[in-house]
Amino acid sequence: MPVSAATPAETPAAPAAEPASAAPAGGRAAPPGGSAASGRAGAPPTGLPADFSALRRQDPELAGLLLAELDRQSRCLQLMAGENFASPAVLAALGSPLANKYAEGYPGRRHHAGCELVDLAERLAVERACALFGAEHANVQPYSGSSAVLAAYAALLVPGDTVLATALPHGGHLTHGSRSNFSGRWFRFVGYGVRADTGLIDYDQVRDLALAHRPKAIVCGTIAHPRHLDWAAFREIADEAGAYLIADAAHTLGLVAGGAAPNPVPYADVVCATTHKTLRGPRGGLILCGEHLGPRVDRAVFPFSQGGPHLHSIAAKAVAFQEAAGAGFAAYAHQVVANARLLARELAGQGLDVLTGGTDTHLITADLAPLGLSGGSARGRCAAAGIVLDKYAPPYSRAGEECSGIRLGTAAVTTQGMGGAEMTRIGELIGRALREEPATVTEVTALTRRFPPYPVTAA
Ligand SMILES: Cc1ncc(COP(=O)(O)O)c(C=O)c1O
Repeated sequence: MPVSAATPAETPAAPAAEPASAAPAGGRAAPPGGSAASGRAGAPPTGLPADFSALRRQDPELAGLLLAELDRQSRCLQLMAGENFASPAVLAALGSPLANKYAEGYPGRRHHAGCELVDLAERLAVERACALFGAEHANVQPYSGSSAVLAAYAALLVPGDTVLATALPHGGHLTHGSRSNFSGRWFRFVGYGVRADTGLIDYDQVRDLALAHRPKAIVCGTIAHPRHLDWAAFREIADEAGAYLIADAAHTLGLVAGGAAPNPVPYADVVCATTHKTLRGPRGGLILCGEHLGPRVDRAVFPFSQGGPHLHSIAAKAVAFQEAAGAGFAAYAHQVVANARLLARELAGQGLDVLTGGTDTHLITADLAPLGLSGGSARGRCAAAGIVLDKYAPPYSRAGEECSGIRLGTAAVTTQGMGGAEMTRIGELIGRALREEPATVTEVTALTRRFPPYPVTAA
């Protein structure tokens, strides 16, 4: 990419990015061609790919918003369970001219001219995804996790079919049968859940429901359950009931890539995922399956449910798959889990009721009932202290009652290079924020300043 210079006079009065500082010990290793200071002398460095300066020069109003968002992401503690920091290399691919290309179809079978090079990029992404997860077939075109699930249903089901999936109040995603989503409108969903006493998936209930309802597919995957799913148990139940098994590993596929979570690929007929959560790639979706289902899955993505693929996104997925195959990523994925376990312990020490007693993944859910706080007020108090997390309704919450929990994750702070000492600190800071102790925000900023997500390096 050509490096164009910013015009300092046109640089908006936006909050400056964090000052340049050394990458934290254990932080993200600079990828090849990684972060570069941008713009010519006078433009504040951002740590973003160099041609960001073109946007600053041409559209200072919008560039100001983007820089303010970079500042927010850098200054606050990012504990949203589904968020992460994509590398500068991933961001560079996203901002590349591949965004300009129409390429309906698949490599070698496009509806448009001029696809020779984007074919190579998509093939690279497919090959890397297959190698990373041991899959026979990968479709890297889904625009998002939801699009991937839609395509999986389209490949295996027809409207009206019965599907067994995690009930929404027990951690199911909207695509697992919400009436406000295509899934709940077009299919007959039956929901399984977690046990009231342990908070763990009730596999006996899954089996009973599967045998009673004979679903065409069983979906296993969740937005909130912090424990590993037993893919083999789901496979056994699906076989007994004569159902397809669809694993929605949107949250955990990055942990799988790093060897920190069990791989659903050997068990599920189709695996759906996002590429932007623990996998740390661009916002997007991914489908993995056996060779025999490949043509059906491909047709379900294009032309059935999507149009032209976003090649810039696909290229960025290829970059992320390569990063995830590197030795450093295994260390990252294991650190994500170690951090989550430690943070869960700290939160219990602060008086929160950590659901299931801990976590196997990046995800933590906790009930604030012992503190007499609602999830909404906890989220607000944390936000006021610069701590970004979600409110959450624990399973078995009473309908219509204000939710009493929070949901958080350690993928992003681990990418920033934070480890055990910082998790202890974050636990304390969350406790202080919940008690509305003054000056907590100053201490949050002091912590995040030491771990810039996009350290500015010399050009
Ligand atoms: C389990 C699960 N499936 C699907 C999705 C949908 O992903 P997206 O938001 O990219 O459409 C999510 C996102 O949170 C998820 O957690």
